[in-house]
Amino acid sequence: MIKLEAINKTYQVGGSPLRALCDVSLQIEPGEYLSVMGPSGSGKSTLLNMIGLLDRPDSGRYWFDQVATEELNEERRAHLRGENIGFIFQSFHLINRLTAFENVELPMMLAGQPVKQRRSAVTDVMAMVGLSDRASHKPNQLSGGQLQRVAIARAIVMRPRLLLADEPTGNLDSHSGGEVIDVIEKLNQDGITLITVTHDQQLGDRARRHIRMVDGMIDSDHNAHIKGSNIKSSQTKISDIKSVDIDSADTEDKKSDDATI
Ligand SMILES: Nc1ncnc2c1ncn2[C@@H]1O[C@H](COP(=O)(O)OP(=O)(O)OP(=O)(O)O)[C@@H](O)[C@H]1O
Ligand SMILES: [Mg+2]
Repeated sequence: MIKLEAINKTYQVGGSPLRALCDVSLQIEPGEYLSVMGPSGSGKSTLLNMIGLLDRPDSGRYWFDQVATEELNEERRAHLRGENIGFIFQSFHLINRLTAFENVELPMMLAGQPVKQRRSAVTDVMAMVGLSDRASHKPNQLSGGQLQRVAIARAIVMRPRLLLADEPTGNLDSHSGGEVIDVIEKLNQDGITLITVTHDQQLGDRARRHIRMVDGMIDSDHNAHIKGSNIKSSQTKISDIKSVDIDSADTEDKKSDDATI
């Protein structure tokens, strides 16, 4: 679904170059659940923005569903993004003067979809995130967890196949964070590809594949089998999530395979 090859991104800061991504290569299959962890400034958000077609690399290649994205103009990139990719950010990014319903409806309006279709899709996703009774509330009338669930509803209203979450629980208490995780993991169980950037080790551990970034490079990339049943529990609090039973010996990580052979 996603293939990055030798992606580089350098920012100019005060006249000197800062390499945010160095030769990053990565392949992601449909339905995967990845977490991206690593120190502040290691390039996690830059990588996510690259995958989300919000940013362009200086060099390297990126195929999304076999489409070479670097060859697309901005309009076609925006189309590919709108049809396939949903985003969730730490700070929700909702529009304060619109109701929850209108915020969720926005991507469909921008895509020019008819009102009847919009009404039905928004009603469906509001129910999926458990907020049917909050549709007419404005953002300032909602709690943090509810705001993030509105943002999730907005991210999925166009039925994307890839969901990118940058610190989705960063501004939430553990109970609200648990609700948000329940919703996005349920979407992954239903088939959406999920990439979560987080500083929260317990959240990161819940993914089936763990990527660690250091200094703009992928430092490790491990697949893990989650045997614990708590991944399916509803209303899980982050603080309730003890270490899940991870068998990291069974890994498809090329680097570590090479290292051990
Ligand atoms: N627009 C920009 N202009 C200049 N430098 C940038 C820009 N965006 C990111 N950087 C730099 O690139 C590096 C990687 O940034 P990035 O935001 O990807 O880090 P991160 O791993 O997401 O960090 P955090 O955990 O703090 O969110 C950092 O050193 C950052 O200062
Ligand atoms: Mg970041």
